[in-house]
Amino acid sequence: MVQQLSSNVSRTIQTKLVLPPDTNHMGTIFGGTVLSYIDEIAAISAMKHSGNVVVTASIDNVNFLSSAKVGDILILEGFVISTGRTSMEVYVKVECQNLETRHRTLNTTSILTMVAIDKDGKPAPVPSVIPETEEEKQFFEGAPLRRERRMLYKNVNQ
Ligand SMILES: CC(C)(COP(=O)(O)OP(=O)(O)OC[C@H]1O[C@@H](n2cnc3c(N)ncnc32)[C@H](O)[C@@H]1OP(=O)(O)O)[C@@H](O)C(=O)NCCC(=O)NCCS
Repeated sequence: MVQQLSSNVSRTIQTKLVLPPDTNHMGTIFGGTVLSYIDEIAAISAMKHSGNVVVTASIDNVNFLSSAKVGDILILEGFVISTGRTSMEVYVKVECQNLETRHRTLNTTSILTMVAIDKDGKPAPVPSVIPETEEEKQFFEGAPLRRERRMLYKNVNQ
């Protein structure tokens, strides 16, 4: 029987401080830096869900919605939203908190596909995920369409 796990098993929160080396000449954070944070938290979420090491198979829908500047605090949240046989879709949301006002703005969102890898370096089966909140259920229902679209782009690019 396929093991089933709540999305809470993979839920991961990370906090980062935006420092000068992370920023461009306008003092706002590089997109590539945010992307590396997103990739890291997605990998941690997927590893917590699968109990295996993982690799990033694809990153889609990276939406840089607002900028973050030196001294801002980034709060990242990631969790598994759907699973295939060996792959997991992970949703990552980044919020930016202004230190003085404590106001939080949605900064970046993304959906990544991570694949669990066994000791021989081959894709390994993963438990399925049980969505719990309304948001998680909506993501779960949209998974087949996103998968179809992703495979279409993969084939076009090969
Ligand atoms: C991802 C990878 C393991 C897939 O290997 P593969 O030989 O295509 O294996 P499979 O065909 O069995 O696919 C395994 C799973 O990956 C998924 N997959 C493969 N390519 C994908 C892509 N571009 N986007 C999303 N999912 C993908 C498949 O759908 C399958 O999922 P499922 O088991 O849930 O149905 C392989 O392409 C790889 O190692 N890529 C490099 C990963 C890496 O190094 N990432 C770091 C950044 S470079």
